[in-house]
Amino acid sequence: MANRISIGVLISGEGTNLQAIIDACQQNRIDGRVVFVGSDNPDAHGLDRARKHGIPAFVIDYKSILRQSKQQPLEDIVPEDFELEKVLAAQSLTRRDWDKSKAVRYLSTRAVAEAALLKKMTLYPFDLLVLAGFMRVLTPYFIDRVNTDSARPRIMNIHPALLPSFPGVDGYGDTYRYGCKVGGCTVHFVDYGEDTGPIIGQKAFEIKPQDTVETVRAKGLRLERELYPECIQLFAEGRLKVVSKTYILRDGTRWKRKVVEITH
Ligand code: GRF
Repeated sequence: MANRISIGVLISGEGTNLQAIIDACQQNRIDGRVVFVGSDNPDAHGLDRARKHGIPAFVIDYKSILRQSKQQPLEDIVPEDFELEKVLAAQSLTRRDWDKSKAVRYLSTRAVAEAALLKKMTLYPFDLLVLAGFMRVLTPYFIDRVNTDSARPRIMNIHPALLPSFPGVDGYGDTYRYGCKVGGCTVHFVDYGEDTGPIIGQKAFEIKPQDTVETVRAKGLRLERELYPECIQLFAEGRLKVVSKTYILRDGTRWKRKVVEITH
């Protein structure tokens, strides 16, 4: 038996992916165990799933933290180790359309919530952080404190569409409404962008004429529950390697992309 990895899971809602991961660990389809479950939402049903399995569960109530931070001067609330310029520079890699004042407020207030989340997480040492229906954007402040070895990213997310198509909050709905004949889900490493990180695995399903957005979502969730444990097990086996690729396109321009190689 390979040594079991410690998995931290962040959720915001139902936690069906969390349940699939817990079950896969218990059935040894993942050489690992869930060591904590955190949520930004105190009402997340996934918290009950964790407690039922005796897994430490905690809430970092983003809504109240963000509301309180609106009433205070930013410099009074940002974490000691918050480096605004560094975070701004990293974030601007992906969000060019922001005006600076909006970006400063957004990144500073989220760092307050993220500092509280990181503090709680240090109680439960983990090898891999899994976002499972976690509906908050993580900023470079948080990502850099988890991905301490840039060559070995360790934050995974699952998205309800075949990225790079249909990023955002309703992948299955967007896929269905577009009239696609195939839908799917994607597991990727988290980078500074939204749903833009290196892809680890994808699963696809056929969309039939009789399908509705609900049946499409149900097909997707069923595949998610297979895909996530498979991707986590690849990580547990040390078979995921992120490499930078540079491609020369037909018009001669160079196109760079970080991709995941699955080693044997
Ligand atoms: C899933 O569709 C997942 O792709 C997205 O959040 C949805 C709910 O996940 N990230 P869960 O039931 O809370 O695991």
